Amino acid sequence: MRSHYCGGINESHIDQDVTLCGWVHRRRDHGGVIFLDLRDRDGISQVVFDPDTPDSFSLAEKVRSEFVIQVTGRVRRRPAGTENANMPTGQVEVLGTAMTILNAAATPPFPLDEHVDVGEDVRLRYRFVDLRRPEMLNRLRFRSRVTSYIRNFLDRNEFMDVETPILTRATPEGARDYLVPSRTQEGSFFALPQSPQLFKQLLMVSGVDRYYQIAKCFRDEDLRADRQPEFTQIDIEASFVDEESLMGMTESMIRELFRDVLQVDLPEFTRMAYSEAMKRYGSDKPDLRIPLELIDVADLVSSVDFKVFAGPAKDPKGRVAGLRVPRGNELTRKQIDEYTKYVGIYGAKGLAYIKVNDLSKGAEGLQSPIIKFLGDDVALAVIERVGAEDGDLVFFGADKTTVVNEALGALRIKLGHDLSLLTSEWAPMWVVDFPMFEETSDGGLHAIHHPFTAPSCTSEELAASPETALSRAYDMVLNGTELGGGSIRIHDESMQQAVFRILGIDEEEARAKFGFLLDALKYGCPPHGGLAFGLDRLVMLMTGASSIRDVIAFPKTQSATCLMTQAPGAVDEKQLRELHIRLRKPATKPSASAVETSNEGEANSES
Ligand code: AMO
Ligand code: AMP
Repeated sequence: MRSHYCGGINESHIDQDVTLCGWVHRRRDHGGVIFLDLRDRDGISQVVFDPDTPDSFSLAEKVRSEFVIQVTGRVRRRPAGTENANMPTGQVEVLGTAMTILNAAATPPFPLDEHVDVGEDVRLRYRFVDLRRPEMLNRLRFRSRVTSYIRNFLDRNEFMDVETPILTRATPEGARDYLVPSRTQEGSFFALPQSPQLFKQLLMVSGVDRYYQIAKCFRDEDLRADRQPEFTQIDIEASFVDEESLMGMTESMIRELFRDVLQVDLPEFTRMAYSEAMKRYGSDKPDLRIPLELIDVADLVSSVDFKVFAGPAKDPKGRVAGLRVPRGNELTRKQIDEYTKYVGIYGAKGLAYIKVNDLSKGAEGLQSPIIKFLGDDVALAVIERVGAEDGDLVFFGADKTTVVNEALGALRIKLGHDLSLLTSEWAPMWVVDFPMFEETSDGGLHAIHHPFTAPSCTSEELAASPETALSRAYDMVLNGTELGGGSIRIHDESMQQAVFRILGIDEEEARAKFGFLLDALKYGCPPHGGLAFGLDRLVMLMTGASSIRDVIAFPKTQSATCLMTQAPGAVDEKQLRELHIRLRKPATKPSASAVETSNEGEANSES
């Protein structure tokens, strides 16, 4: 139907006849001449109709925004002074000679150029229109280039693309499962995979040796800007490898991807132990672009009268840390109050601070409501410890270690952005030496990665002190986002049983849930390991999008619904009966809230 894409017309086509198809982006009637900006996925071309071609001129008078048309015409140079240097097609225009309206369009739910004023719910309800915006289409195209590059890289490196089931048993990755009731097995449910973890390990037992899959994963968890209930992993597993070879190979993949697709040379990947990351940045995914660090001061304040500090300083599970903010004493009372409110989100009960005005005056040169509680000597010692200078401000967190880490860790990021402290554009790193387990609120242990991660000690050492055991896991972190994570796996049945025992999974339960894995470990399982990248997060970072929703064609809302299809929805009684399901409460209407529209389906009659 067409000879060129709209965005591809340029000076090399002058005097040629072309046929374009697309959407009317804008129509301007300049008394006697009609200009149509015609848009397709490649860009926009200006088409001009004049009364010399009366048929197409009168059709052009009729078209409205987002009508779908086909235009034939001759490319010519735009008259001097009317060129548009901001458009790739801005030197030329098409003098239309024939036009067909392929389809009319109702008034769009929002003007494509003015999407910023529209709520995201409207954009999601009319996603098919939202995706027409060049910014969105370009992101989809970029994502396609990323997956194409990754496939190519992994193919070149002898990885085999293998699909794994979507209807399966639970694959524990720490979230809730999405369940699918079985019609043929009354009372039984499939779980959608939280990741292909167990299948990729089984493929290693099968001798696949190098596996990858661009795999859909499903996790029913609380959503945030970088989490979706269904998302995509670049999932990788290999046999006869150690951490170094896996990290090296995947690091090259990301480095070459950035070079090829983004023309960016990533700096060297920092490697940091989990314990150091938590101590210095309060996070296991630190944003190393921000130069602020948490510094422990518990030993200096453990015997002061100020209980807010002394309590956590004496508590083995407590932490008291300072965060020096260079030139921070310019912060106003109001700003400090806002930061105090901000850390409250993370459970901090307050945000003590000291402003350093003039250190040559000793404690006199410090300004803070807490100096009277700390005493001059302790205050000065704390200032010296964190290395604060005249003009700085030091914030303090004192609480359980987890609260201080989360609160000051988040504050560090916020200050970094608010005060423009970022020192580089890209800060990639590996976090290594994770503990195997963390304590749950009920005092039990929980696997920090998943229960199939190998410890870096023997099973006897593991059983003797599981709390301190480290794992052979590694996370790739970029600019404070966990891009991917993986580990060397357990390939020995007794070690796997030992880990299950520590997690409180007895032999019977282990058999019932993971019998197939335990069997596989018995039948010649090679040493193996792997990693999975979050594709959505990777594309989000590479495109500078602020949410992964912006790089997913049809994402879900924060409450895990689809505003366009209204999923999840109610099902009728017959379907429930077939699935052997009776609802505790009668079915309610679909929960995805509809967006009210007044112009749905109406003919577009704006001028
Ligand atoms: P993990 O659970 O760390 O590891 O997941 C790997 C990567 O997937 C991305 N990711 C998500 N992206 C969007 N929305 C979500 N809800 C979401 N959850 C995770 C992150 C994360 O780093 N089987 C292991 C990998 C392995 O050990 O090989 C796994 O799934 O970028
Ligand atoms: P208060 O004695 O509660 O008035 O607190 C004195 C100062 O300590 C105020 O600046 C509070 O914001 C701060 N503060 C209170 N609790 C904490 C805490 N857990 N961590 C850090 N600062 C705190």
